[in-house]
Amino acid sequence: MVSLKVNSQEKKHLINKNIYGHFVEHLGRCIYEGIWVGKDSTIPNINGIRKDVIHALREMKVPVLRWPGGCFADNYHWMDGIGPYEKRPSMINTNWGGVTENNHFGTHEFLEFCELIGAEPYISGNLGSGTVREMQQWVEYISSDGQSPMTDLRKENGREKPWKLKYFAVGNENWGCGGNMRPEYYSDEYRRYATYLRNYGDNKLYKVACGANADDYNWTEVVMKNAGKYMDGLSLHYYTMPLDWSQPKGSAVDFDEKEWFSILQMTLFMEELIEKNLKIMDKYDEEKRVGLIIDEWGTWYQVEPGTNPSFLYQQNTLRDALVAGINLNLFNNNCDRIHMANLAQMINVLQSVILTDGDKMILTPTYHVFKMFSVHQNSSLLDIDLEETYYHYGNEKIKQLSASASMDSEGKIHITICNLDPTNDVEIDCTLKGENKSKISATILTSDKINDRNTFEQPETVMEKPYHNIRIENNQIYASIPAKSVVLLTLE
Ligand code: AHR
Repeated sequence: MVSLKVNSQEKKHLINKNIYGHFVEHLGRCIYEGIWVGKDSTIPNINGIRKDVIHALREMKVPVLRWPGGCFADNYHWMDGIGPYEKRPSMINTNWGGVTENNHFGTHEFLEFCELIGAEPYISGNLGSGTVREMQQWVEYISSDGQSPMTDLRKENGREKPWKLKYFAVGNENWGCGGNMRPEYYSDEYRRYATYLRNYGDNKLYKVACGANADDYNWTEVVMKNAGKYMDGLSLHYYTMPLDWSQPKGSAVDFDEKEWFSILQMTLFMEELIEKNLKIMDKYDEEKRVGLIIDEWGTWYQVEPGTNPSFLYQQNTLRDALVAGINLNLFNNNCDRIHMANLAQMINVLQSVILTDGDKMILTPTYHVFKMFSVHQNSSLLDIDLEETYYHYGNEKIKQLSASASMDSEGKIHITICNLDPTNDVEIDCTLKGENKSKISATILTSDKINDRNTFEQPETVMEKPYHNIRIENNQIYASIPAKSVVLLTLE
């Protein structure tokens, strides 16, 4: 028996729903095919946007959506993507395969997509190759209700009233594809660009500065020191893949226990990254005002055999479900400082929640985990004390369990638990301190094999199912958490 204590008297911070955010980039088949099929498509759509995708995303609950990149963002000139389609210039997508980008999915289309799925927009501005003026005008075009050439242009393009725009990033990965800058230089550029991003009327921007690539703590240090007081959030990018990019990546589906272990081990490294980056941020921001925005995370494997290597299309297995569960539990448990996180990427790229093939669409194991965990959105984090047990592989070991708990506005308690061990079930003895609960229910996501996945032929192999190996007596909960599973407990 492993002991877990959940204290509902100790309500901590609210879990910002934006921790469950997503990311779409003009990369491969993410936007085109995945979201945008055009108004004349035979695939059912609303103004060019796939209906099946809208429906699935609404069910999963997407609080916030980042766009247009990624590396694409610092190459994107937003004025190319507004106005009549036939007048929008085509460009070469130099980051992702040199394909032609016809700019049919632009500002209006993105903001309509956000409205259709109920998400708040999060836009990444172009600092690497754009101008201050261009970035300033983009914000004005979207969010101002005043009279100006930009607002006139918006009206000419069919949108009378401004949109609400809160989240705006000043560049992406400016230490790499966004300009190969040094942190000293970026800090100054950030300060200059951010100065001109205005709040129009009651629209108040939340400005995000480009943060570190994983464990580049010097970047965090320098940017916080020089520009900390001008930002609301600082980003962090960490993909579950070898830190040394020259190391070969593994297969998304064809792996053994050794690779299962190493991917989960790499995922757990996120805990250290959060802790160390926050420690540096706190040095320059004692009030802990600046939020950590983990706006790119997820697994990154070799592409599916036979697909364009620049399109980053990969399958998604039970292992990815565990990766998602571990990260989301970590983000919940650090919700006092993590204001947002965005899985890379939503559709047909990297750790997707949706895969499409022509008019067909499937939901990945990662999709189901996001749907299960959506109960934590805007709930109060509860204090938990989980006994540490380990999953051993060869001479190494990692934590066997990952968990977080929250209480929602109706007083329901939700506990999400991942068992990383592919062989051993864990019996949990959970003491509930505080409120009395008498009813328990649960769902589970697991499968027979570690690399089970959903395919277009068999779309329902790995999904959330009801689970009954649980009971509650006198505020004491007993739950068996099967090997390689993600479990959601609900207490009422
Ligand atoms: O998500 C794919 C790419 O990974 C993004 O464009 C970039 O920001 C990161 O390096």
